[in-house]
Amino acid sequence: MIVDIINKKRLGEELSFVELRDFFEGYLDGKIADYQMSSLLMAICINGLTDEEVYALTKIFIDSGDVLNYKLNGPIVDKHSTGGIGDKTTLIVAPIVAACGVNVIKMSGRGLGYTGGTIDKLESIPGFRVDLSEKEILKQAKDIGIVVSSQTANLVPMDKMIYALRDVTGTVSSIGLIASSIMSKKIASGADSIVIDLKVGNGALISNMKDANKLKELMIEIGKIYNKEVSVIISDMNTPLGYNIGNALEVQEAMDVLRGREENTHLVEVCYDLASEMISLGKKISKKEALIEVKNSIDSGLAYGKFLDFVKSQGGNINKLKVSKKTKNIRAYKSGKITKIDALEFGKLSVKLGAGRTKLDDKIDYGVGIKLNKQLGDSVKRGELLATLYINKDMRIKSVKELIEIN
Ligand code: URA
Repeated sequence: MIVDIINKKRLGEELSFVELRDFFEGYLDGKIADYQMSSLLMAICINGLTDEEVYALTKIFIDSGDVLNYKLNGPIVDKHSTGGIGDKTTLIVAPIVAACGVNVIKMSGRGLGYTGGTIDKLESIPGFRVDLSEKEILKQAKDIGIVVSSQTANLVPMDKMIYALRDVTGTVSSIGLIASSIMSKKIASGADSIVIDLKVGNGALISNMKDANKLKELMIEIGKIYNKEVSVIISDMNTPLGYNIGNALEVQEAMDVLRGREENTHLVEVCYDLASEMISLGKKISKKEALIEVKNSIDSGLAYGKFLDFVKSQGGNINKLKVSKKTKNIRAYKSGKITKIDALEFGKLSVKLGAGRTKLDDKIDYGVGIKLNKQLGDSVKRGELLATLYINKDMRIKSVKELIEIN
């Protein structure tokens, strides 16, 4: 029976709801071994899933745990990013949206591999608590309209097990598996509407527009099945997002954006786009009207105030946020225009510095990272500062040319 199902997928055939349910529930119950699940996952990666199989798998995932249902005054809108280098959008977008009167209750994850995770970034703030109970989440949502916590224990437990296995068996990059993994968690989290920030590029899970469009279509269809409005915004991840990469450094940059100190960068553009989409869905107003509210929330200081309330409410002391004192500068090897800031190479470098983990139990160094001094398209003179590394150990950089191209 178990081997029949694996063979069926190996031959590229469609599995029924019952076959998928028996297999995945069997794995959760410990009746199916890791090597058997790995084998099915690899067959799925090679032969794909039909849309019907993706919908079936999403339901099986959701049914494996609790489905949250918060009752609040006002709409709840969730946001999810498929992950990238320097992606601190949640830290900026959630306070803006909450300051505009739309509740944000968000369950986030830790970083693994080259992409960072919001929970690690928040934990770089001394005292910040990410493990809130459902009761605490509800209270904080009612008090200030914004909560970002790690996933509660029983939220799609099947995804937790399967994702950990996918991560170590080279089976992450299946469009169908990604769609069910993300959407099962978003639907179980109980928001009314969901905005997905789908990153495409060499520093992201999805590297081409064909796969991005298919994933977008699947996630919107899944939303319809569960009566959730889903909006997907596709954004570039060939270049790191913003100037800073690394946990405490990214919190600092998020605060700069919220205080209006960083303007007209790709990071600000993406954040304003995501925040206006969320507000537009939540308040049922046009995106143009929502964008005016976004800008007002920055200019009035309300969004930054909301960020401070949120950090304080979850126990964090922002005044104790620290970045490493030891630094190393990278300078331009020639004069010209910056034509590439390689997201993947910067992701690898940040992990090497200690800002990320390659294994689940690796310890993160919150104070290390990279601060870029230039953005794509900027002109530089030979010897000018390109970036500063915040380090805790002596480091040799392979080649600056691999990180930043000047032409
Ligand atoms: N993020 C998720 O939550 N799941 C995936 O499968 C990929 C990215």
